[in-house]
Amino acid sequence: MELYNLKKNEQRVSFSQAVKLGLGDNQGLFFPSNIPTLPNIGDVLKQDFVTRSVTIINAFLGDELGSDVVEKMVRQAFNFPLQVRKVREQTYALELTHGPTLAFKDFGARFLAQCLNQLSNNEKATILTATSGDTGAAVAHAFYGIDNIKVAVLYPKGKISVLQEKLFCTLGSNIHTYAIDGSFDDCQQMVKDAFDDQELKQAISLNSANSINIARLLAQICYYFEAVAKVPENERDNIVFSVPSGNFGDLTAGMLAKAMGLPIRRFIAATNLNDTVPRYLATGEWSPVETIATRANAMDVSAPNNWPRIEELLRVYHWDKSLICGVMVNEQETETGLKELYNDDDYLCEPHGAIASFALKNELKEGETGIFLCTAHPSKFQDSVQEVLDIHVALPKVLADVANKEILSIDLPADFAQLRQHLMAL
Ligand SMILES: Cc1ncc(COP(=O)(O)O)c(C=O)c1O
Repeated sequence: MELYNLKKNEQRVSFSQAVKLGLGDNQGLFFPSNIPTLPNIGDVLKQDFVTRSVTIINAFLGDELGSDVVEKMVRQAFNFPLQVRKVREQTYALELTHGPTLAFKDFGARFLAQCLNQLSNNEKATILTATSGDTGAAVAHAFYGIDNIKVAVLYPKGKISVLQEKLFCTLGSNIHTYAIDGSFDDCQQMVKDAFDDQELKQAISLNSANSINIARLLAQICYYFEAVAKVPENERDNIVFSVPSGNFGDLTAGMLAKAMGLPIRRFIAATNLNDTVPRYLATGEWSPVETIATRANAMDVSAPNNWPRIEELLRVYHWDKSLICGVMVNEQETETGLKELYNDDDYLCEPHGAIASFALKNELKEGETGIFLCTAHPSKFQDSVQEVLDIHVALPKVLADVANKEILSIDLPADFAQLRQHLMAL
């Protein structure tokens, strides 16, 4: 699989190089030179999730890694369930919340761990990632206890849910966590600065596990296929996905699925108050403003990193921008979304999924079938859900086990020089 750098097209790399580099020169994202199409989608949709995921990833990586290796990686990564539930007429929820850290990030992080393990020849590496809440846990758990790999996670102090924090900041061992006095965008910028620092990069064999890493996006394509496969055949003509969006990796994966031939009519890009993309789609002006803290904190992103990949998909496939409908859902609407799901549809959700559901309910047209993505388990946002719905939300074992553990994070200002010192000393 060949990929090119969106900021410097002449930089061409293999998948293995792209995974290890994370970002290209000039902080450019890697993009596949050729997106494979699947010859008979109908048959592919009949396969079970893991078999179909092997087919999908093989179409990208079979040539480079060999299909046996791809199969082994996919089977080891995707060893937990996912579900599609009918919520109301012509509306389905794609639940990506049943993995080890109860968020959709488990798909990408676990597959990335398999890739790095496969490609590293047991060399030492430091994985540096910024998280708005869920990536940190998924990556930390995927790499926890692996001898040659150190993981450093940056997150905005006080701006992720208490249980999100407990899930990855209590592990210790090879997992190092930094509570940054700033926003997720600041954390993301510090990761980019680290990748621009050639000396640091070499000294600690830096790698990234952010959704800038193409391996994560390939893994995420697979669940869009599963969602369509689980919708009855007579409802598959006009499928609309509503994607709760922050850094726009998930939406990129959905568009890659469409590029491979999955019948998707259009997408709803649902954001919280951090609405750079809906404003851009409406006005053509890209103007990120200061990040606003919301209930759906994992989507508190003002400068979404993956957007250039979406622009490239629109360009390469001559898709009109109207393929993506941008919807900003404010705090009150988020609460309404949660309440409507619970009271009218008997469905317990959390703020991120509720944003996607709310946007879908308002935008779905006659004759369309809507699927919204549930990206985190309601218990991860226990405080918020309990407060809005006035109910008790029980904690699953994985959260109950960490709820009373001590946070081991180091507090740092949003200052790259200080982070650098810490990374060099790891
Ligand atoms: C629960 C949840 N929902 C949605 C998102 C947004 O996904 P993306 O950044 O791929 O747009 C995130 C990302 O951190 C998340 O953790």
